[in-house]
Amino acid sequence: MSQNTKDPSEFAQVIAIDGPSGSGKSTVARELATALHVLYIDTGAMFRALGFFADQQKIDLVEGEKLTSFLNSIKMDYGVSSKCLIRINDLDLTEKIREHNVSKLASIISQLPSVRKYLLDFQRALALNKVCVMEGRDIGTVVFPNSFCKFFITASVDIRAERRLKQLKEGGDHTITLEQIKDDVRKRDETDMNRVVAPLKKADDATLLDTTELGLDDIIKILSNEVKFRAAHLGFVLGPNV
Ligand code: DC
Repeated sequence: MSQNTKDPSEFAQVIAIDGPSGSGKSTVARELATALHVLYIDTGAMFRALGFFADQQKIDLVEGEKLTSFLNSIKMDYGVSSKCLIRINDLDLTEKIREHNVSKLASIISQLPSVRKYLLDFQRALALNKVCVMEGRDIGTVVFPNSFCKFFITASVDIRAERRLKQLKEGGDHTITLEQIKDDVRKRDETDMNRVVAPLKKADDATLLDTTELGLDDIIKILSNEVKFRAAHLGFVLGPNV
């Protein structure tokens, strides 16, 4: 815990949670934010919304003038209300972004440097002077490398695919098989870990947590204890900050 001997002003008051898709990090991040009474920010939702919206506007998902002017022309709103998580140009995309095909669009668009830059600025502005839990792939490495508390959440491919299948079935999608999902999970990991800009990787100073064998309550206990310990040493006040 060498971090705690440093000046608190060197740290962003962001709890960074990174990890591969289906690792359970979204559930963990949301529950942790609730337990600590702080704001929860889901950055994957932003890539999903941009992927969906660009595709809908027939913007090719490649770098170029068209993409640049698209990014310059849109207005993204995050955390609009308890019912509306994300909007682009006043269009509520909260439900849309959870559809299976949007995962692919998000994965493609997340490889584009101009998109990452756009969302990097957006995410930093959103978390300015707030204690929050921010979840994604590059929060501890790129967006807030100075965050005071970082976790990297992972789980086996099998359990991640099973969780995703359950999620899709609960959402009424019964068209996809477990094998297809495992395949998707492996491919998405490969793309996320090998992209040139901001690849998925554990920050050196992040705590690694494998959720394959752990229950949610235990995970939240482990994480919130570590957050509280670090926050107390730096004099950060946790919630209510929602
Ligand atoms: O967490 P998710 O499955 O909703 O993320 C959707 C896609 O966006 C996924 O392919 C990874 C990408 N992503 C990213 O590159 N960086 C982030 N901070 C969050 C998500």
